[in-house]
Amino acid sequence: MSRKLFIAGNWKMNSSAASSVEVAAGMASELGAIDAVDMAICPPFVYIPGVVEAFKGSNIGVGAQNMYFEDNGAFTGEISGQMLKDIGCRYVILGHSERRHVLGETDALINTKVTKALADELEIMFCVGELLDERKADQTTAVVTRQITEGLKNISREAMSSITIAYEPVWAIGTGETATPDQAQDVHATIRGLVGQLYDAEIADAVRIQYGGSVKPSNAAELLGCPDVDGALVGGASMTVADFAGIVNSVL
Ligand code: 13P
Repeated sequence: MSRKLFIAGNWKMNSSAASSVEVAAGMASELGAIDAVDMAICPPFVYIPGVVEAFKGSNIGVGAQNMYFEDNGAFTGEISGQMLKDIGCRYVILGHSERRHVLGETDALINTKVTKALADELEIMFCVGELLDERKADQTTAVVTRQITEGLKNISREAMSSITIAYEPVWAIGTGETATPDQAQDVHATIRGLVGQLYDAEIADAVRIQYGGSVKPSNAAELLGCPDVDGALVGGASMTVADFAGIVNSVL
């Protein structure tokens, strides 16, 4: 099966009211008509409405970087999946390494959020990836296996069509150090094999697996040329029109 590439930007806790709209408008005019790859941008919550407006009529979707697993109520500071749908989000990133390692999210919490996001009919970019120490200790397969097995616990085979897995080795995030295409391909193939064990060959063949970690225009084509790399989750290089367009254009 040939899987359509999915290139998404994660702006993390960056941008401003003015620049979020300006950058999104630039992306809409430069990339908005492209149909050959799927594209999305995930701004900070507060800038989502402006970006949704700027992307209206374009092929670029909008996602959030996190959500809570209740619809509403006494959860000060949290944002629900229904609220995200309400303001025009199609996607949500869950299990990002910064949520895991800086904000303390566990596999069990991430699984609860994945379950709720599916009920809310959001499409999920579900992130996994090992720390540098874990890679050095040859624990990469064990770590991503645990993260996927726990994070997708009780998720049905049908629901897998709403899930993209993002492999983001933590040592490559924001460091300028990218996994080599061989390193990425190796883990992506392992992940696809695992999905085959947890589900079946058809689901494994269909699931898209993005690579994330210092993706930029100069390395995107090589990484996305790997057989099991089906897109990218881009941090720093998704903050400007030129870099994000450079990544998208490099695979067209
Ligand atoms: P960088 O592309 O800045 O390394 O960030 C990757 C990432 O964490 C995307 O979610």
